[in-house]
Parts: sequence; C-alpha cells; structure tokens
Amino acid sequence: MTIKARAKINLALDVTGKRNDGYHDMRMVMQTLELYDEVTLEKKLQTGLTLRTNLSWLPTNEKNLVYKAVQLLMEQYGIQDGISVYLKKTIPVGAGLAGGSSDCAAALKGMRELFSLPMTDEELYATGATLGSDVPFCLMGGTALAWGRGEKLQPLTPHPSVYVVLAKPPVSVSTGAVFSKLRLDAIEARPDIDAMTASIERQEPSGIAAHFCNVLETVTEHDHPLITKLKESLLESGALGALMTGSGPTVFGYFLEEEQGLCAINRIKEKYPQVSELFLTKIYPYKGCT
Ligand code: C5P
Repeated sequence: MTIKARAKINLALDVTGKRNDGYHDMRMVMQTLELYDEVTLEKKLQTGLTLRTNLSWLPTNEKNLVYKAVQLLMEQYGIQDGISVYLKKTIPVGAGLAGGSSDCAAALKGMRELFSLPMTDEELYATGATLGSDVPFCLMGGTALAWGRGEKLQPLTPHPSVYVVLAKPPVSVSTGAVFSKLRLDAIEARPDIDAMTASIERQEPSGIAAHFCNVLETVTEHDHPLITKLKESLLESGALGALMTGSGPTVFGYFLEEEQGLCAINRIKEKYPQVSELFLTKIYPYKGCT
C-alpha cells in the first residue's frame, strides 16, 4: 500500500504565548501543497519492523517519525506481523514544510487501513498529536485554521488555485532553537488571521498573499539573510507575495501563471546557485492524505 504524504506551508503563523509544557500557543493558517513523499507499507514474512528510504543519511530507527508511528500502532494493537516500510522522500528535509510530520501521518493512515484497525479519526488525530504538533493537520490536509500547539483544527474554505514556488536555502534550522530565540514581547508585526480567512472565503489569491505573515521569520531571517534575498527575488519575479514557512528556512512565493513560477526559479538559479532545492508546485485544496 502506497500513500502520498503532502507538504504544507503556513500562510499565517502567530505565536500567542509560552506554555508550561515547553510548547508555545499558536494561531496559524495552514495549507497543503501538491508536492509529496510516498510511504509504502507492506506485510512481510519475517517479524519486526524495517524502514528503508531513498536518502541514505536519513535515520531508519526510532529517530524517524515514520518508524515511531508504525511501532506505536504495532504495540498498541498487538500486531505480530512483520512490516516493511519504504519512504520515498521528495519534500526537502528540515525545511518547514512538515515533510516528516506528513510522512508520519501517512504511516498512521496506512497502518489503520492495512490492518483494519478499529481507530476513529479522532483517535488517529490524538495519536498523531503525541508524535508531533503538525501531524494532526497533515492527517486532515486542505486549508485549515490551527491553534493550541498546532493540533487544534478547523477546516476552512478550500484555497483558490495558485502556483507555488519553493526555495530552500542550504542551511539547517532547529525548530526548538527558533522558538527559544523568539522574544514574544519584541514581536512587531502579527498576522491578521481574520483578514486572511476572509480573503480565502472570497477566493482572492492577491488578498491572501497581502496578509502573509510569520512571526518566526524575524528569528530565522536574522540568522540566515539569504531568506530575505530569496523573498525579494520571488517578488521581483512577479510573486503576489512571498513568505518563510514554519520555522524555516524554506521560502515560498505565489504565482498566478506557471510560466512566471518557472522564470522565478531560473532567476534564483542564476543569482543564488547555492540554492539547489527549488520546486514549482500548486495548492492542493482537498482534504485527506492521498
Ligand atoms: O511538536 P514538534 O515535535 O514538532 O515540535 C518541535 C519543537 O518545536 C518542540 O520541541 C518545541 O520546542 C517547539 N514547539 C513549540 N510550540 C509549538 C510547536 C513546537 O515551542 N506549538
């Protein structure tokens, strides 16, 4: 069984407070993209769990959220069969695109189906939330308002169709480190989430892009000025708006025409040859992982 695990972007990301459990309270607008990894689950003759991936340097043990998800359900439901998992990565890793969380969500859904587990959607979401704050959204997909740690979700009107260029600077960013550097009292610009959701309702890509805002951007941009340069380059290429997703470092830009998106990618390739992870994808308006 093969399941598509799609990337996400944050159109708006606000951090409203620090909690006692070490996490932060958030308010976000999340959107699924067409870009996907593939998670293939198979029953095998030998007992135990094996994970293989197309990226030799990715962990294939408990450090990988896919492994953790499958192992958790095997234990929870006393599954004795052997399971082999193959993870085909396309979404950049450590990028702010929730690739790992989406792979995890796909593994949970796949396990429920492969073993006909008696799990309700609510139980699946709750299990997902124990594995990562973005996993519940990755299970749901589409366009959503998220709050709490990011696990509380309300579906929104599906986002209108646009092309999305993704550019990942060649740096790695730790989500935990970005949050710990964030000074809540120093945040100057916060997203107007009501205006963003109203633009989504009206199906106005330019209105949505006009309200792009991510309070984590200042922290990551400060450490990696290439993020600012990439946003400028996307805007010079005619993007309706450009923003960093999640804790970064990936930057995205909205384009109405595919040709414009391709030109934007070529411009980045010429000016910033160190940026090798570049994608032209689209909004994926549908709910669900597949
Ligand atoms: O939930 P997840 O494991 O993806 O979170 C990674 C790290 O990001 C957490 O350990 C925490 O430091 C930070 N985080 C946070 N508040 C959130 C989500 C994540 O502080 N709502």
